[in-house]
Amino acid sequence: MDEDERTHWENIYRQKAPDAVSWYRRHLETSLSLIERSAPDRNASIIDIGGGESTLVDDLLASGFKNITVLDISQTAIDVTKKRLGAAAKKVRWVAADITQTVLEPRAYEVWHDRAVFHFLTSPQQRRAYVRQVALAVKPGGSVIVSTFGPEGPTKCSGLNVVRYDTDSLHNEFGAHFHLVESSKELHETPFGTTQQFLYCYCRVEAK
Ligand SMILES: C[S@@+](CC[C@H](N)C(=O)[O-])C[C@H]1O[C@@H](n2cnc3c(N)ncnc32)[C@H](O)[C@@H]1O
Repeated sequence: MDEDERTHWENIYRQKAPDAVSWYRRHLETSLSLIERSAPDRNASIIDIGGGESTLVDDLLASGFKNITVLDISQTAIDVTKKRLGAAAKKVRWVAADITQTVLEPRAYEVWHDRAVFHFLTSPQQRRAYVRQVALAVKPGGSVIVSTFGPEGPTKCSGLNVVRYDTDSLHNEFGAHFHLVESSKELHETPFGTTQQFLYCYCRVEAK
């Protein structure tokens, strides 16, 4: 794990309340609706990459999903989310790890979700490592939902540089085995009253 990155995120989550970070939304409505559409079976296995302290896991449990993994580089973020969920936290698998470096079970997931993590990978090596993880861990025919800052989104987030994407440039990072189902843009209103453009891409992994 890159120690600097881990320390950066630990410091953010130790210092800020869950609703005091720019990416906070009460509910990740677009993410939830894409996951529900891509996985009608509530037994589908879902992994949320860089779930942070978001309420997506609460909403997935409320929606009846039974096979959820939340991965984040920050143990603090995971602990806050577990505490919020209380007893329901036991129904979720929690992984504190850097997605570019951890070992994932091959073909384990029907749905891969990431809101606002991929855009922090500013080096081609990091992005290649991430895409290798997706290709390994998502079942053939599974869904990949990735949301980054859009072309008019911010150039930095929480003090870190980001890469902004349009549909083509994001899809190109993943390659031809990922069939684009749809993409959309979202104007996210931050807790500070400003707006940020997000891009959502929803792909299906080629069924072999
Ligand atoms: C901008 S926040 C988004 C949190 C959440 N997905 C949301 O939409 O509310 C980015 C999250 O990714 C996590 N993160 C950053 N780099 C990571 C990495 N290399 N591997 C795993 N998690 C990472 C951070 O700890 C943080 O929780």
